[in-house]
Amino acid sequence: MAYLNSVDVSKDWKRTKADVTCVGLFEDGSLSELGQVMDQDSGGRFRSLIQAGNLTGKSGNADLVVVQDRPVLVVGLGKPEALDRDGIRTAAARCSREAIARKFGSLAVEAFREEESQAVAEGIILGSYQYLDYKTQDEDCFELTSATVIGGQESAVRKGVLVGQSVCFARDLENAPGNETTPTRLAQAAADIARDGGMQLTVFDREEFTQMGMGALAAVASGSGEPPKFIVLEYGSPEDDEKPVVLVGKGLTFDSGGISIKPGAGMDEMKFDMCGAGVVLGVMKALSLLQPKAHVVGIVPSTENLSGAKAYKPGDILKAYNGKTIEVLNTDAEGRLILADALSYASKHFDPAYILDFATLTGAVLIALGHIATGVLGTDAALMEKVKQAARETGEKVWELPLWDEFCEQVKSKIADVKNIGEARQAGTIAGAAFLKEFVGEGIPWVHFDIAGTAWGGKESPLVYQKGATGAGIRLVLNLLGV
Ligand code: BES
Ligand code: MN
Ligand code: ZN
Repeated sequence: MAYLNSVDVSKDWKRTKADVTCVGLFEDGSLSELGQVMDQDSGGRFRSLIQAGNLTGKSGNADLVVVQDRPVLVVGLGKPEALDRDGIRTAAARCSREAIARKFGSLAVEAFREEESQAVAEGIILGSYQYLDYKTQDEDCFELTSATVIGGQESAVRKGVLVGQSVCFARDLENAPGNETTPTRLAQAAADIARDGGMQLTVFDREEFTQMGMGALAAVASGSGEPPKFIVLEYGSPEDDEKPVVLVGKGLTFDSGGISIKPGAGMDEMKFDMCGAGVVLGVMKALSLLQPKAHVVGIVPSTENLSGAKAYKPGDILKAYNGKTIEVLNTDAEGRLILADALSYASKHFDPAYILDFATLTGAVLIALGHIATGVLGTDAALMEKVKQAARETGEKVWELPLWDEFCEQVKSKIADVKNIGEARQAGTIAGAAFLKEFVGEGIPWVHFDIAGTAWGGKESPLVYQKGATGAGIRLVLNLLGV
């Protein structure tokens, strides 16, 4: 586990033991609250450095100085009026990253703003994240061992730590190679969460879900010998009056494209094709740690998409769990197939308040929105508005694409009910959502999140290490659930 496993809270910087203490400096030369205190305690040490032009508060900047024999990291906070929650989270993450780079094992970070203590804790944890499990010889590897927030609000810090750790937990599953993160491993992770969090767990294996009528998942799984799983986790009591929120996550632990095979270059990245499952398991992990009052079901259909002897083929017609028939025109459009069964299952068994699904569904969303925003599409304007609000509050950007009837027509098949691709080279992300819509029960509010651009591979930042898995979406869902 290469991330911090706890964060303390302290009121007094002098009594806080840490290898490095982190304070903030704004672009206009003004110091953060703790910076001012330390400046006074040290007889104006910071002021003289600032006046001499040795310290600047540009955002992204971080300078190490010595104050009263202690290493102090001065982190740039940019313009005072522009510093928002995101900026605070990123600044805290920068403190962790700088501490790692400079090999300080423990750090103390100013809360910057007491009311944003949760964001500071999230930032410290996310910035401490590294994926080192397979590094056996690298002497440069260095991990943080402890952290303290100075002046933070205790309960908010605790919450931020648990949220941050849930994101890191998902990142570990996502960054792990396909030969480690298999469907069996995802089911194991779900079992651990269920045990620790007091949840109900049901896992159907190949034979069971095939027999139950999940013809789409069965077809995708047929080209691989790795045992597929259909995982259902339930948090909160089914007897609760409250209808559950159902979260569905694409758990393709490796996507080769199947018979419609992908080009070789970059195919390794398809180990990340289970990041939708990562979002669902990350949220369930957070619920297990935070134990809020809520009723949430997490569903993860999980398999590899390979081209073994029994693989499904272009032209095949499948029957999904809701009885609809699907003409397969490309075996690489497999995510929507396994989600078809999962959405049908959710609609039939849970009377959901609403359904959210998360999937690395289309390369097209990367063309449209880059690594910057998740594409969202849905059937319910009020739910969509709540999703957008949660996105604004957590800084995990979403952008809505239209799910108009004209697009929905494009996935109708001549010989089956639907086909698994739309028009060639047109509106691929929308076609994916239009297909999924066919499997969401009548009247159930639903939003689809295409996270193919945001789940991994963006620009490196203090919050996300080495272009690896981001865990994007977890904080947004927790916010939406009011956790
Ligand atoms: N997992 C891929 C989508 C993907 C591609 C995510 C590249 C991230 C980067 C998905 O299963 C897929 O292959 N989609 C196809 C759909 C097409 C065949 C209609 C795609 O996007 O090319
Ligand atoms: Mn694919
Ligand atoms: Zn895929």
